[in-house]
Amino acid sequence: MNSISVFYLLLWTGVSSFKFEDLAQYVSTHEEDFIETLRKWIAVESDSSDITKRSDLDRMMDMTAEKLRLIGGRVEMIDVGAQALPNGSTIALPKVVTAQFGSDPSKRTVCVYGHVDVQPAKKEDGWATDPYDLTEINGNLYGRGASDNKGPVLAWIHTVEVYKALNIELPVNVKFIIEGMEETGSNGLDEMIVAQKDTFFSDVDYIIISDCVWLSKRPAMTYGTRGNCYFFAEVEGPKKDLHSGVYGGTVIEPMTDLIGILDKLISPSGKILIPGIREAVAPLSDEEWKMYQDIEFDVESYKQEIGVDELMYSNKVDLLTHRWRYPTVSIHGIEGAFSSSGSKTVIPAKVIAKFSIRQVPNMDPAMVEKQVTEYLQSVFAKRKSPNKLNVTMIIGAKPWLADPTHPLFEAGKAAFKRVFDVEPDLIREGGTIPVARTFQDVTGKSIIMLPIGGFDDGLHSQNEKLSRHNYIEGTKLFIAYLHEVSQIKKY
Ligand SMILES: *[C@@H]1O[C@H](CO)[C@@H](O)[C@H](O)[C@H]1NC(C)=O
Ligand SMILES: *[C@@H]1O[C@H](CO)[C@@H](O)[C@H](O)[C@H]1NC(C)=O
Ligand SMILES: [Zn+2]
Repeated sequence: MNSISVFYLLLWTGVSSFKFEDLAQYVSTHEEDFIETLRKWIAVESDSSDITKRSDLDRMMDMTAEKLRLIGGRVEMIDVGAQALPNGSTIALPKVVTAQFGSDPSKRTVCVYGHVDVQPAKKEDGWATDPYDLTEINGNLYGRGASDNKGPVLAWIHTVEVYKALNIELPVNVKFIIEGMEETGSNGLDEMIVAQKDTFFSDVDYIIISDCVWLSKRPAMTYGTRGNCYFFAEVEGPKKDLHSGVYGGTVIEPMTDLIGILDKLISPSGKILIPGIREAVAPLSDEEWKMYQDIEFDVESYKQEIGVDELMYSNKVDLLTHRWRYPTVSIHGIEGAFSSSGSKTVIPAKVIAKFSIRQVPNMDPAMVEKQVTEYLQSVFAKRKSPNKLNVTMIIGAKPWLADPTHPLFEAGKAAFKRVFDVEPDLIREGGTIPVARTFQDVTGKSIIMLPIGGFDDGLHSQNEKLSRHNYIEGTKLFIAYLHEVSQIKKY
């Protein structure tokens, strides 16, 4: 037998000997241990938005590194610099943890991205339980970060741990990149990814992100997220606030100007009125329409969840497409406006509107900035107001879109079929996960979002949870997924 035949024989033996039952059994018998580890992680108040919690966050990064080391990973803690504070001083950013398991060039290499920082949470916010004390009620594990994103990160780490514990060779090389600033904008991460493009990322084939949730009870895989362009529009008039009884009727009021131009952004039926925006959007193909038609989504329960009688559209495809693959304008607030209770008769001298436009292919934030600025200036000019308008784009995050027919998604289908015995929905996210776009632009690797969180996990909200079932079966899903990815042919 020549060496090539031996190679294929070995490959074939590897295929036929995927010991899924043994691996899954190990997960089942260690369910309580896995939940205990999650409990320890949830107990760390790793809130990245609160600098007084920075030592907790640093401890969380240390615990993550330690856990990865304990199961045999080659771990590094990468310094990504400092964060500027409003008072001009700086504070060190939490380190980014990277780990590597295996470097066999004949195998595929996947890189799992996740984060272990959390959104703020206080019992007084309306939690039924202590957000930092993992509590199980009716099969749900309640705690801040349970679903976003400590639970899924641990499910991935346990995936590797299970292979190691049973002395079963990992079918692919596995890398991790775990950060601690996701909830506040991933400070330092983009630069780190750029810096490691030709080192850490050079042998990575695929990037896996499990930092989102299913759409319904049916499992799902995510192939796109919207971006976001965030604007400030400032109208400035008199040099100080005025009393409407004294000056009202004589001055041209900044607030009236501002409301006037904001009203020209989007029509009552949801049509964006800024020229060029709708024209840039990729048209909906028949195949795409069909995909949306197949997604499990109940319009009535969606209405109930939000608490409205009527939505912008009445059918499923219109609703989902406008949630995920069309842009929209949202007006968030007006700084400088009177907003307390009571009835103050002020004429604010300067007001700043905050609004954003969700981005989809093929919109380009730089173009959107120009379109919005020019349009608002022209609408404002028609008012012939002596006040000054200043429009600035504060954030310009691009959308991310993958090909849902890529083998990565086929591998996901096979893994879901094996573990959950269903065909997963192919969905997109209306929100923004900027790191996906950065990975795509900088590394050029294919990316999949493979969530295990439930649609009702309440990310960023009170009573965040991850179900025991999703945590444990999700670990089995990742075990099966690594095997499926190892079967993707190199081409
Ligand atoms: C700036 O704020 C931080 C956090 O509140 C504080 O620790 C630091 O001492 C302050 N620095 C200065 C120069 O005031
Ligand atoms: C316009 O607004 C931005 C953001 O608020 C500010 O940084 C900039 O200085 C303003 N420009 C003018 C000319 O007022
Ligand atoms: Zn998250």
